[in-house]
Amino acid sequence: MNDSGLKPTIKPIVVLVSGRGSNLQALLTRANKERWDTALGAKIASVVSNRADAEALGVARAHHVPVHILDHEEFGSRAAFDEALARTLERYAPELIVLAGFTRILTAPFVERYDGRIMNIHPSLLPAFPGLDTHRRALQAGVRIHGCTAHFVTPALDSGPIIVQAAVPVEPGDTEEQLAARVLAQEHRIYPQAIRWFCEGRLRIGRSGAVTVDAARPAEGALTAPPVESR
Ligand code: GRF
Repeated sequence: MNDSGLKPTIKPIVVLVSGRGSNLQALLTRANKERWDTALGAKIASVVSNRADAEALGVARAHHVPVHILDHEEFGSRAAFDEALARTLERYAPELIVLAGFTRILTAPFVERYDGRIMNIHPSLLPAFPGLDTHRRALQAGVRIHGCTAHFVTPALDSGPIIVQAAVPVEPGDTEEQLAARVLAQEHRIYPQAIRWFCEGRLRIGRSGAVTVDAARPAEGALTAPPVESR
């Protein structure tokens, strides 16, 4: 049940992957649960990978989710790849396209075709550190707080409307791997939540481009790292 006491309709979604698949695993774990208070509100109808060797394909197969491999090297252009991707997606009529470690940049026509219906998880507190190597760059910059962002996708890379973020402290002496693991644990929390909000119709993109979330729980207040002594 959701907060209004109504059982929401399960929405078909397709997940696009290129690599490890830990976010896919986090989504599938929730999608397969029967209890609505922990469920995703979505059925993962298919998983599409642009790489045949993506570990994420094994994750999908283990959950009996139909997979498709579209090797981008077999297409003459980004546009041709995106057209084939769109044809594959349409077989499942997805309400939402979920990028989970999908490393291909999508063309503007593709993104515009699914305007407001493509979501991504990015391993930084956007707009800080768009692009690659976010944890290394965060350590180099000496930031005290790092994190991850679930956002809608627009043609400009890692710049779309922000849905939800989670922050983690950067600990003294952190390695890139330690920091990445701390952030990844939060990705696995916020991404299912963002998808569930979408499926429940709780997300609105305003004219300014900012997202409004109709969520029952209030925000939790300030986060500081290192902790600040209160007076
Ligand atoms: C995650 O860090 C995600 O934020 C980024 O790519 C990585 C994918 O990891 N977009 P996984 O394949 O979900 O394990």
